[in-house]
Amino acid sequence: MTSSGDTSDGLFVVFEGIDGAGTTTQCERYAARLRARKRLVHVTREPSTGPIGSLIRLALTHRLALPPTHQAQTMALLFAADRLDHVAAEIDPHLRDGYVVLSDRYDLSSLAYQSTTSSADDDEGTLRWIREINRHARRPDITLVLDVSPDVAAARRRGRGGAAELYDAAEVQARLAEAYLNADALVPGDRVVHLDGDASPDTVEAAIAAVLDALVTDVPQKTRAAAPPDSPAGNS
Ligand code: TYD
Repeated sequence: MTSSGDTSDGLFVVFEGIDGAGTTTQCERYAARLRARKRLVHVTREPSTGPIGSLIRLALTHRLALPPTHQAQTMALLFAADRLDHVAAEIDPHLRDGYVVLSDRYDLSSLAYQSTTSSADDDEGTLRWIREINRHARRPDITLVLDVSPDVAAARRRGRGGAAELYDAAEVQARLAEAYLNADALVPGDRVVHLDGDASPDTVEAAIAAVLDALVTDVPQKTRAAAPPDSPAGNS
């Protein structure tokens, strides 16, 4: 089941939230659950590990300077280009092979982060433009938004350490948390489910399983001939 309407057994699931919402942890936990079920699963993320994603990581960590007057627009364009590369190189092939693809972020991140940080006055115009440059990116089957309070997320980020990134400022994260509460309006027509990301990781994991288990079909292993499901290639 994919939103492109084809008949594959693939399912495209996106995890979203502010920095420290727990998307990375929960993607990994749900992937482990599916592997235990012997279901083909592929975990991925944006920015991707491809060439444009690598460039974006340099910008996120301040090692690449972008035009200050058009920073949000430049980032939106880079993320949109990375997304199409990610879809073509990684997401679509896995969906065609019947995998459940779990993506840590997708275009809802662009609609939240790049509109929130844009200096343009016309918020609706900015959102329309971001949607337009992402027009060719396939729609997820479902998006899970982990809504978390900025203070809880900030404490988690402090706990994991690491260098300061472009969107770390408390005031930016507070506006992003608001934007995610409004996620359904950012991606009209998409299936969006909100979960309480302030809850403990085990509680969030159980809530995610309750939503996704009903959507994930069990696929006979013979549908993928190239690699046995327990091999690294079969459970990437
Ligand atoms: P990353 O280090 O992967 O953050 P995390 O592991 O905390 O999710 O960096 C991703 C950052 O990029 C994060 O701050 C969100 C931002 N981002 C955007 O601004 N726009 C986008 O379209 C995407 C996919 C991510």
